[in-house]
Amino acid sequence: MRFRTRLLISFGVVVMIPLLVFGLGIRREMSNRVTAEYTRRVDALVNVISADIARESDRIGARLAALKSSLVADDRFRSWVVRGENRGYVLDYAGDAMRLAGLDFLQIQDDDGRVVSSGHFRNEYDRLGPAVPGAGPALVRAATAESSFLALVTSDTLRIPPRRFRLIGGIAVDSQFLARLARDPELAVGLVLPNDTTKADSGELVVPLPPLPYVDATEGPGRVEQARIVVTRSSAFLTALRHNVNLWFGAAVLVAALAALLLAGWLSTRISEPLEARIAIGDLARQVNHDIKNGLAPLRNVFRHLAQVAREKPAELPQVFAERQGTVESSISYLETLAANYAKLSPQSERKATDVNSVVRETIGASGTVRTKLADGLPPVSADALVLRRVIENLVSNAVDSLEGKNGTVTVTTERGKNIVRISVSDTGRGMSKSELDKAFDDFHTTKPGGTGLGLSIVRRLVLDSNGSLNVETEAGQGSTFIVEIPILS
Ligand SMILES: Nc1ncnc2c1ncn2[C@@H]1O[C@H](COP(=O)(O)OP(=O)(O)O)[C@@H](O)[C@H]1O
Ligand SMILES: [Mg+2]
Repeated sequence: MRFRTRLLISFGVVVMIPLLVFGLGIRREMSNRVTAEYTRRVDALVNVISADIARESDRIGARLAALKSSLVADDRFRSWVVRGENRGYVLDYAGDAMRLAGLDFLQIQDDDGRVVSSGHFRNEYDRLGPAVPGAGPALVRAATAESSFLALVTSDTLRIPPRRFRLIGGIAVDSQFLARLARDPELAVGLVLPNDTTKADSGELVVPLPPLPYVDATEGPGRVEQARIVVTRSSAFLTALRHNVNLWFGAAVLVAALAALLLAGWLSTRISEPLEARIAIGDLARQVNHDIKNGLAPLRNVFRHLAQVAREKPAELPQVFAERQGTVESSISYLETLAANYAKLSPQSERKATDVNSVVRETIGASGTVRTKLADGLPPVSADALVLRRVIENLVSNAVDSLEGKNGTVTVTTERGKNIVRISVSDTGRGMSKSELDKAFDDFHTTKPGGTGLGLSIVRRLVLDSNGSLNVETEAGQGSTFIVEIPILS
């Protein structure tokens, strides 16, 4: 696997794993929060509904209490109790009282639970009424002429000697009533009756309230069972929310992955390109070595042969030379071709309009030791900025070295000449004698510990390649000035 690919993969992993962990954490946290918020809302609603039902049954109780006191004081009712008179009045009593008290259900039952007066049916007299348990609210399914309805009822007792009666009154529990109980638009209130087999949807949260006694009195008195009021919430909202979070999370992962990939790609080229270049140069060096040895081997053989012939049979030398001349020529031409081919590999410097002053400024930077005297309005020269930079760098570093740590100055000057721009690098350093100057441009000649001795020969080659010229003025103990002239762009 290539270095770049490995870097890309490891970078991707390093970015993606924390991102995924982070994203999943946020998702879970949000889901938990939403669920907790719902639970809180449902709990609050359950409390409110319990209070509502208690209040409703108190209100019914208050109306029954008022009815009770007017019944106790009602002479016509009393005359029916005591003497059996006014039967018609008693039969109609519950119907009228129910409407006046704003109730939906009202019955007066005797001690045995038989109907004395019914709010809905005059002819219910003497039938057994709903077997509603003692005190507190209860739910009753009561018959009407058309069908049946559900009522929230409470009861009260009264005595008109010698008899005792029971008042049962209530209000209808219909969908409107239930909707009134549920104040939260996302929550619904429902009733679960004992014979109800319909189940809540899966995914719905069902919270039951404390059970209420329930009597189905549509056919006869019925018996006491239990009904539940439940709060349900649709899972649709939470599902939609989760869906949204997933969508955004997915988008975030995608964007981050893309960014990570781009960054990794960029980084990998930054890091791996120099490395790969070095590997490539190493390979190239081995190849050059191999190719040159191949070219030299036949030459060496021919030379040895000729030397041997010259020693042993000098008379045959011209003949042997003529025989081997072809080998020598082909080896030389092989090496020439090789050199030409390798020359093509070296990066070509690109000559174009270049501002000398800005190259000088870039090269020197904020160096404190080096001064500049840059002429204004210099025309652009025809050169490669990188080549110029290497020339100046080499000359300036030599000039700084020549100070040998003592006080002194290094100055870079630019000025315009005839068709050229002149760059001078002068120092007040050690300078060179005539013989020192003669050797200074030789390859590998250096007077410095750790020097390469290549700087000046590179400078000379680069300047000449740029169609420029190089001059030196130097005096031992006084300093040196290296003068480079580069042609102006024509
Ligand atoms: N400005 C200078 N003043 C004095 N001597 C110099 C100057 N520039 C170059 N030389 C001499 O020329 C030698 C060769 O320089 P160079 O080719 O740049 O190689 P290096 O700097 O590695 O020694 C230096 O070692 C030094 O003796
Ligand atoms: Mg040098």
